Amino acid sequence: MAIRYDETRKVFTLQTEKSTYQMKVDGHGILLHTYFGGPADETDFSYLIVPEDHGFCGQPGDVVEDRTYSMDYYPLEYPVHGNGDYRVKALKAGWKGEVPGLDLRYDSHKIYPGKYGLPGLPAFFEAESEAAAAHRTVETLEIVLKDLYEEIYVTLYYGVFEKAGLITRAAVIENRGGKILEVKRAMSASFDFPEGDLDLIHFYGKHACERQFERRSVFHGISEIGSIRGTSSHQQNPFVILCEKAATEDFGGCWGVVLLYSGGFKIQVEKDQFDMTRLVCGLDDDEFIWELKGGERFVTPEAAVLYTDRGLTDLSQSLSAAYRKNLIRSWWKDRKRPVLVNNWEATYFNFNQEKLSGIARQASRLGLDMLVLDDGWFGKRDDDNSGLGDWKVNETKLGCSMKEMAEKVNGLGLKFGIWMEPEMVSEDSDLYRAHPDWAFQVPGRTPNRGRNQLVLDLTRKDVRDYIKTNVDHLLNNANIEYVKWDMNRSIESVGSAADPSQSQGALRHRYVLGLYEILEEFVTRHPRVLLEGCSGGGGRFDAGFLYYAPQTWCSDNTDAIERLRIQYGTSFGYPMSSVSAHVSVCPNHQNGRVTPFKTRGICAMQGAFGYELDLEKLDGEDQAEAKRQIERYQEYSDLFRNGSYYRLTSPFENSDFTAWSYVSEDKTCASLSVVYTDLHANPKGLRVKWKGLQEHGVYVLEGKEYSGKALMQGGMVLPKPECNYDSYMVIIEQKN
Ligand code: DGJ
Repeated sequence: MAIRYDETRKVFTLQTEKSTYQMKVDGHGILLHTYFGGPADETDFSYLIVPEDHGFCGQPGDVVEDRTYSMDYYPLEYPVHGNGDYRVKALKAGWKGEVPGLDLRYDSHKIYPGKYGLPGLPAFFEAESEAAAAHRTVETLEIVLKDLYEEIYVTLYYGVFEKAGLITRAAVIENRGGKILEVKRAMSASFDFPEGDLDLIHFYGKHACERQFERRSVFHGISEIGSIRGTSSHQQNPFVILCEKAATEDFGGCWGVVLLYSGGFKIQVEKDQFDMTRLVCGLDDDEFIWELKGGERFVTPEAAVLYTDRGLTDLSQSLSAAYRKNLIRSWWKDRKRPVLVNNWEATYFNFNQEKLSGIARQASRLGLDMLVLDDGWFGKRDDDNSGLGDWKVNETKLGCSMKEMAEKVNGLGLKFGIWMEPEMVSEDSDLYRAHPDWAFQVPGRTPNRGRNQLVLDLTRKDVRDYIKTNVDHLLNNANIEYVKWDMNRSIESVGSAADPSQSQGALRHRYVLGLYEILEEFVTRHPRVLLEGCSGGGGRFDAGFLYYAPQTWCSDNTDAIERLRIQYGTSFGYPMSSVSAHVSVCPNHQNGRVTPFKTRGICAMQGAFGYELDLEKLDGEDQAEAKRQIERYQEYSDLFRNGSYYRLTSPFENSDFTAWSYVSEDKTCASLSVVYTDLHANPKGLRVKWKGLQEHGVYVLEGKEYSGKALMQGGMVLPKPECNYDSYMVIIEQKN
């Protein structure tokens, strides 16, 4: 049993193979958080809470004589505004027009096999094989809390994935009273840690520089990670790690917290007056007011947490395994992904049928699997100032219909895919001229523009229907096997002509719910189309999107060296199979750097591999190298997609080289890649140690035999770099 309830002591203990999580209903009906760490037994851990009378730590209204009992000091499971807890809170709500405040007490609970669902929102699920097993290892706990005074209920949901080590959380707020309830903040989860000496790892960035690794001590006060951009954003990511100070890749306690949400979010970490740490995560509550009439419910997005005492590598690998088994649904998730060429950096908007056919012919010769037609094929779209919303093929530019284009590409033995940006509209478009009210606009103000485009109001059914119809029409009328779903601006002030009364925060959340509805229908109606997420590169690289799309364009920055950092950061929270990465031309279009073609290939093979350049312009040498890259990727695609990923060095610490490896599930095959990032005169051979091999296995490395133990303990000496940004990749196999 993953979930146990001890009736006598009123203790809930959630067990996974990596962790134990415990809560207790105390004598006042408050749900305390008593333990979350390495696997433990069912001891009632509330003995660790020492009641004391602390100054300025008051009591809830019904606790009259006990000055040691304070919400400001006790570890709480779902802290609320209004009962004397002055730390960051999970929930703030109250009757409209009255003082907000709640005091939640235990009401009831239930435990059942399998995983709860969150209709309309992305959520982890029990895999079919797990549901069919005699011993179910995925269970749900629902704990219902009720306000002490009013008919306001909160149900806390817990999904416990015993094998994966994962615990999911969500909360449902329900108004069973007669008045209107205003929910002003509704976080998905809160975690109280007795520890105060922790580090926070998070991933910040900007366009073309996403998910940069940063590790800092948690300080007294509040650290906040979030996005107010209506998307999960390039600037911050809804995935963070709290870890022990001593934690490394291979050792130490780490809690990885992920929010399954593609819109604005907030993660706050507070180290309080007693050196305890609280982490809350959920929807961005900026300008957020969600009104609930009697009988209505508000469902938060899902959060998930994974604890391991085996360091950061185990955390990332375990999360990746959970995503692959219990989150990503795509038909493609366990299939070899097509090696594709995308025409964006090859042509930008300046293409015609002849150009595309030339690239396709060359792609076919080199052994690629797919041609992707990026931006510019529809409406009036020769630059990024017009055309969005008019999803009709520009046959004059393309020289044929989309169906014919797909047929031509298919005729060369390639699959065919397209780019779309369905959530947006250009003011210079037929759609906007016909329906100006379909764009978010604040009455009386000219809307802010981003990339000279406006955001469609996805809270409206007619707008969602328009998008669904257009996507369906395209996919049903041509053999399109891949769609890159782009989104190229932040969402700020929003105004819906259909419902001007909504708060800004509520509208932005409804926008994301609208998007999820569209994506859900997309994957249901077109299950075999490979959907790739994109938001100006990796501006919406989040676990919520992975529920619909198995991969995301990681960054608009295709420079191999900057990608080392971007992909390194991404690897902490997401599977490398979801990281779309392409070889582009040099000098690189984003930063002008020149790197060897070989190195660009090795970096791109870290993820879902492809090309983003004019294949016709490759010289003979690069063509030969491209062929070798494609052959290698095709041969070992299973290793790169499903293998365990090891970060061997950090590009944020080691300025000489960055190394990583993949080890197959059965450990019989592994790859090691190195990119040299600096050169030195009179160099000595650099050493790197392999990880994750079979200790007693014998591996063949460049014709010689070594034990796994030797390669992991002694390591190997790397060849010396022969030029700037040289690189090296080797694959070893175990001897039978
Ligand atoms: C942003 C994407 O990240 C690029 O790859 C490209 O598709 C452009 N949009 C097209 O407008």
